[in-house]
Amino acid sequence: MKCFLADDGATTELAGRLNSVLPDETSGWTLLLEGELGAGKSTFARALIQSMGHKGTVPSPTYTLVEPYHVAGRSIYHIDLYRIASEEELRYLGWGELEDGFRLVEWPDRAPSLAASADLRLRLSYAESGRNGQFDGLSARGCEVIERLAGATNINLQD
Ligand SMILES: Nc1ncnc2c1ncn2[C@@H]1O[C@H](COP(=O)(O)OP(=O)(O)O)[C@@H](O)[C@H]1O
Ligand SMILES: [Mg+2]
Repeated sequence: MKCFLADDGATTELAGRLNSVLPDETSGWTLLLEGELGAGKSTFARALIQSMGHKGTVPSPTYTLVEPYHVAGRSIYHIDLYRIASEEELRYLGWGELEDGFRLVEWPDRAPSLAASADLRLRLSYAESGRNGQFDGLSARGCEVIERLAGATNINLQD
């Protein structure tokens, strides 16, 4: 699913729409957030975490690598792999201990093996003063969510 996100508000709205079509049970789900610096990965993650019910700020996990949230009976892990130099370093992050939650991963290209077990991928890229977004399902359950998202979204859809 492709969309044009004219400003931050559109990125935030897309996150809200995703929240509205996610199942109640999201433990073990992984969403990959791809795009260069400033593409809007953290903007999207912040909006999604807040629309899942978190009140308050969503600090960048650039230095902590993982910021955990426990909200409305759900665990959410906001992960930033920017500072990871190799896939082996994932073990320092305790990836195995994050299985109970919904994992939002910025810079997933640092650990290419994650894609094989991920459910959703959002690719963001610069498009004049806005952004292009491409949302894909990477698993069967992820594809179902994208179908529902496409039905629930009217943000200047292309395709
Ligand atoms: N759809 C959009 N159009 C224009 N600007 C956006 C859009 N989404 C986010 N932004 C802005 O672009 C910047 C993105 O920063 P950030 O979300 O930290 O990016 P990243 O995490 O990808 O490095 C922020 O200043 C944000 O306000
Ligand atoms: Mg970021």
